[in-house]
Amino acid sequence: MIFVMSRFFNSNWGPSLFTIFVFASISPLCIAQQKGINYDEAKVPDYTLPRLFTKLDGEKVSEKWQWNRDRRTEILRLFEEHMYGRHPAKPERVEYFIHSLDENALAGEAVRKEVIIRLGEVGPRFDLHVLLYLPAGVNEKVPVFMGYNFGGNHTIHADPAIRLSQAWMRRGNDEAHINHRATEAARGLASSRWPVQTILDRGYGLVTLYYGDVEPDRADGWKDGIRAHLKKDRSGDRLEPEDWGAIAAWAWGLSRVMDYLETDGAVRADRVAVMGHSRLGKTSLWAGASDRRFAIVISNNSGCGGAALSRRAFGETIQRINTHFPHWFCRNFKNYDSNESELPIDQHMLIALMAPRPVYVASASEDLWADPMGEFLSAMHADPVYELFNKTGLGVEDQPGLNHPVGDFIGYHLRSGKHDVTDYDWEQYLNFADRHFNRI
Ligand code: GCU
Repeated sequence: MIFVMSRFFNSNWGPSLFTIFVFASISPLCIAQQKGINYDEAKVPDYTLPRLFTKLDGEKVSEKWQWNRDRRTEILRLFEEHMYGRHPAKPERVEYFIHSLDENALAGEAVRKEVIIRLGEVGPRFDLHVLLYLPAGVNEKVPVFMGYNFGGNHTIHADPAIRLSQAWMRRGNDEAHINHRATEAARGLASSRWPVQTILDRGYGLVTLYYGDVEPDRADGWKDGIRAHLKKDRSGDRLEPEDWGAIAAWAWGLSRVMDYLETDGAVRADRVAVMGHSRLGKTSLWAGASDRRFAIVISNNSGCGGAALSRRAFGETIQRINTHFPHWFCRNFKNYDSNESELPIDQHMLIALMAPRPVYVASASEDLWADPMGEFLSAMHADPVYELFNKTGLGVEDQPGLNHPVGDFIGYHLRSGKHDVTDYDWEQYLNFADRHFNRI
């Protein structure tokens, strides 16, 4: 058994204690309002992580082939059964349309392409609208970063030629939305999270789409989303305990974009780094675990249900996430509300499912809700699987100080600041991709 509490006493507590202090002094009300939420390391329960190399039947795994053939498959199934739910295969009929193409976009710096992925069986209602920016004047296929955006493609850049999404948005009525639909005022609203020019300058393309194209992010959203339409028994208006949750549906959507990228002559489909923030970071991790075509997997502040260990119950807990976002995971996951120790998996195993591919976990110091220490520990406890593949994963045992990236095949940093995606985060992802795609 891996008894984890002991390692805390060797840990670098500096940044965590500091940030707990800062957070507490900035927003005591916020903490007071979150009843039952723990932000105190001393109150993290003792816990034992499920073993990576012991199969359910007790057999020990010590060879790569045993990991790949048996244990990895078993762990993947456990995540499906207890957490994210089972997803269907690729639809038989899929069509791709070019919605727009400008080889002289962004003042000649980029090729901008908008592609529609039409999932044949369900028709235009579930069209995925994919936006690609590729570096201009490059005659070879380029590696790309790919990820969902929260508010529609038109939010990632002020470029007026980007199609304005018609889809349902979580934001109801504000300066950029009317009745949950985006208006022109939403253009470029999320551009600080998408440094398009920097990505292009570094020789990468960017591929993005709105996660709500797959399914609206609300409790009953599945009825208007891909899950209802691919449901075998369409008569039932209830999902089964192991049916996929919204995160699995969004992850499945990323795989459909990957299917498209494999057909796009301008993109190196073997060099796709899938990146996501927060709930979309949980999504990119599950996409990377369930689809090995993603060459690099990046989780930005994904927290509970993403990179953070569930058993620590620090910040957001399973019970809290299942209450506020009952649609994200499969129904079985509710069995673990305030019952983390019974889970047959924990999130270090999710990170380990990427092995030997490179994976990056990023935390932010003021984002205690996402449990930065729990995110670090997941990355650290996945190391033995990388060792099995003769690779160094994280390679350190103490959470690094602020803004100090560490790791080899598992990257990690604790950025100073809030729950967000910043230029600093992107800089690390670009460096990580350069290193692993052998570009330097
Ligand atoms: C909420 C939720 C988190 C999630 C985040 C986000 O805070 O509790 O689990 O990661 O939203 O997606 O921004």
